[in-house]
Amino acid sequence: MAMIALKCPDIQVVVVDIAMPRINAWNSDTLPIFEPGLDEVVKACRGKNLFFSTDVERHVAEAEIVFVSVNTPTKTSGLGAGKAADLTYWESAARMIADVSKSDKIVVEKSTVPVKTAEAIEKILNHNCNGVNFQILSNPEFLAEGTAIEDLMKPDRVLIGGRETPEGQKAIEALKDVYAHWVPTDCIITMNLWSAELSKLAANAILAQRISSVNAMSALCEATGADVTEVAYAVGKDSRIGSCFLNASVGFGGSCFQKDILNLVYICECNGLTEVANYWKQVVQINDYQKSRFVKRVVSSMFNTVSGKKVAILGFAFKKDTGDTREAAAIDVCHGLIGDKAQLSIYDPQVTEAQILRDLAMDKFDWDHPQHLQKPLNPVDTTKLVSVVVDAYEATKGAHGVCILTEWDEFKKLDYKRIYEGMQKPAFIFDGRNVIDVAELRKIGFIVYSVGKPL
Ligand code: UGA
Repeated sequence: MAMIALKCPDIQVVVVDIAMPRINAWNSDTLPIFEPGLDEVVKACRGKNLFFSTDVERHVAEAEIVFVSVNTPTKTSGLGAGKAADLTYWESAARMIADVSKSDKIVVEKSTVPVKTAEAIEKILNHNCNGVNFQILSNPEFLAEGTAIEDLMKPDRVLIGGRETPEGQKAIEALKDVYAHWVPTDCIITMNLWSAELSKLAANAILAQRISSVNAMSALCEATGADVTEVAYAVGKDSRIGSCFLNASVGFGGSCFQKDILNLVYICECNGLTEVANYWKQVVQINDYQKSRFVKRVVSSMFNTVSGKKVAILGFAFKKDTGDTREAAAIDVCHGLIGDKAQLSIYDPQVTEAQILRDLAMDKFDWDHPQHLQKPLNPVDTTKLVSVVVDAYEATKGAHGVCILTEWDEFKKLDYKRIYEGMQKPAFIFDGRNVIDVAELRKIGFIVYSVGKPL
């Protein structure tokens, strides 16, 4: 929304949320999320044509276009638990829009939703409309965290799906006009509602599938002496395949991939497509396998026990340049090591101690549900086994092993000689992101494990 405000000075953008602390943070000097370049964009427009408010109903009533970006977490109970998207927040947003609207509106699905959600939303709006006309559009977002501003500035494409009626087409044109302020029109693709909804899930599933494919290869590389970086380079040079998203890792994380694939699996199952569901489920299973394989590697290398040993965890966010930890591979890896009673010393440049401790105490899928609805946190006493520190040297001091779980640039530039000297010997390093120079570290004296590389 900040980017729309920046690029469209003629449009007034109001971001509304019922959470007062969140809106206060957006109105303050310290924005509630870390995203390179976002500060500048928000500060350039805030108070001019970009506003943040908790007066949800008034601003929705006044708007011509309403973007709905509420969360659609994975259901934790009831029908489809563990797979289906929970549309509670979407439904209540739609009911509120219907209640307060006195003029015609375009309602845009921005959240990632299961295919056919627009049909349900249309029903809610049109059965409660009091003569107001609503057009539903699907406009999925393709930005990735850490590069959000760049992605929004120059998107590969903008997708707009709508009804194939004259009113539907008119609504599509209105939204197209907004993006056309800065996106070349040949990059704005229009289509039917269901194609747009499904394209978002399909894109994420196929991106995640590439990572699971290369991660599956990484296990085979380790078994055969091949080097996954070389294999991925060779494969990616084929222009039909391309080189992006072929970096082997400890596993993909983030709020989208797993959630969207599980959701796709559920939709396939509901449509009786068992084989298709199993095909996509395998992408998530390989990802879980990759994380547990990493933990096994750490434990088995360190003489089959990490009990009581200090292990440094460098990086907790699900990828670099973000403080987001949702579904981060680090959470599962830390759980695995805590299960073996390791003493963890965790450092991440952007994640707070409170966040790390909360993540380690939470059940899977709970992260995306409002805190007041959450079950009490696990009784697991992480406090004795986990400490969170403020730099990498502190984390590694006296440690038996180091695990790199996020590809922060600063981990490439650490003084590994100094780290080696401060560690117990033999000093192990497990690089879950392939960021370090293996030969260089072996020269210092480390025993090095890198994903998919010869041991
Ligand atoms: C992802 C998609 O890339 C976006 O296009 C999409 O809009 C977004 O989900 C969404 O649905 O909202 P995001 O989750 O922010 O974006 O981050 P990614 O850059 O896709 O990374 C996901 C995970 O895969 C990270 O843990 C990352 O470290 C990992 N990854 C990525 C790899 O392990 N290897 C790679 O080669 C690339």
